[in-house]
Formats: sequence, structure tokens, C-alpha cells
Amino acid sequence: MKVVVKDIDSYSLSDLDVIIWAQENHPNLYDHLNSLGRLEVLDVGCGIPLVSFFAYHIFSCSEITLVDIHSEKECIKNELNNGVLKQAPLGLGKAESFYDCYEKLPISGTDQRPKIESKEVFDSIFIEHFEQEQIQTFVKSNPKKYDLVFVLNVFHFLGLEMESTLKGVFDLLTENGVLLIRVQRRDDLKGNQKFDYDLFKKTFNTCFKDGVIIEFYKDERWDYSICMNRDLLSLQ
Ligand SMILES: C[S@@+](CC[C@H](N)C(=O)[O-])C[C@H]1O[C@@H](n2cnc3c(N)ncnc32)[C@H](O)[C@@H]1O
Repeated sequence: MKVVVKDIDSYSLSDLDVIIWAQENHPNLYDHLNSLGRLEVLDVGCGIPLVSFFAYHIFSCSEITLVDIHSEKECIKNELNNGVLKQAPLGLGKAESFYDCYEKLPISGTDQRPKIESKEVFDSIFIEHFEQEQIQTFVKSNPKKYDLVFVLNVFHFLGLEMESTLKGVFDLLTENGVLLIRVQRRDDLKGNQKFDYDLFKKTFNTCFKDGVIIEFYKDERWDYSICMNRDLLSLQ
């Protein structure tokens, strides 16, 4: 099932649309996820949880859990001020809730999951299981397991806690669960905050022996990577 996103050329969704990238290039990942039935989805460091909006429309989801260190309103404010959405001509400037953001997004629903038209229904899906918590604490204290876990553009915040957090994320997966991580180059981080991509790769490879890292380069420099806990991408 394909989610249609219009006007994608007019702004960059590139760091948000892991799921669309996978849908277009790696249908075997989709087949695997669809074979798991109704999915328990987790989006950690969700910010404005665009990827979870897409997941809702693409897959059959049992429950969607969102986690961020910031509140819903703070996530919106931060991303509109700092993130790529700043440039997005989507009219998100006045958004005060995740529903306001979702409403403005060019997502077309499907017959099974039409675009949600009421904030009440939307909140019962996306806000009921929103937790304002640090990823480091969440991975240690949460007993539940998930079939699809997103940690997109978050690891550069974790510094030395990256290793224990990656191991913790591993423990959140169901046996056949899929973990999708995105990490990106951040030239603006300094000192302790500096993101050590080589250390991330080493840690990832230790935690996920069957994992795969797909690197994307821009002007011959590493720009970002999409990482999966298992290599479902090369299957025919
Ligand atoms: C760059 S944004 C990415 C948002 C979203 N995942 C995406 O890719 O569009 C990073 C998010 O991680 C959250 N974050 C940073 N440190 C965190 C932590 N220790 N635990 C949980 N969330 C954290 C931030 O509040 C922010 O919303």
C-alpha cells in the first residue's frame, strides 16, 4: 500500500521520510512488516512524529507509542524554529498540536485508513500513548516489546550514553521486529556534544550483528545513514 505525498519536491522531507524511502526501494521490508500482523509501533525522540503518521496509513497498527524528552507543544516549537519544517510551505507556522501538523500534511489516506478528520480520533491514536520521557530512561523501564521502532535523528544528542541506549533499544524489539535508525552529519555540534559517527557505527555493529547501514553521501561527504537491525533490504 502506498501513501501518496504530493509536492515533495518543493521542500526536503529527506530526513523524515525513511518509511517512504523504504516503501519505494525495498518492498521486501514492507512484506516482512505486513506479515507480522497488527504492529506495535514505537517512535522515540519523535519530535513532530511525521514518520508515525505515515506508518499509521501504511500498516495495520495495533498501538503507536511516541516518546520525546519534550512535550507535544515544545516538539512543535523546536522543529518549527530549528528543523527542516521551517522552510516547508505547509502552513505549519501556527500549529499548536500534532493534529494541526497532521491536518496540513499532504497525506492521502486509503480506503482502510482514510485521513483522520477529527482531533478527538487523532488524539486517541497518537496522543494517548505519548510519553514525555528521556530515551535513556524509557529503554530501561519499559516492559513492552515493539514490532517497528523508529529512532530518527536522535542519537547525536546522546553522547556517551549512545552505547547503552542502543542496547536498550535492541531489547525493546519483538523477535521479528524491525528497528530503523537515522543518523545525520551535524557540523554545528561542539565539544562533548560532537556526534562521533565512527563510534556509532562500531556500537551499532556490536549490537546488531545482522544489521545494515546504508550511507548517503552529498558532495562526496557522508551526509546521513539509515540503519536497520537486520538486512531485509537485500532480500529478493
Ligand atoms: C532532530 S529531532 C528529530 C525528530 C524526529 N524523530 C524526526 O526525525 O523528524 C530530535 C528529537 O529528539 C528529542 N530528544 C533529544 N534528546 C532526547 C532524549 N534524550 N530522549 C528522548 N528524546 C530526545 C528532541 O526533543 C527532538 O524532538
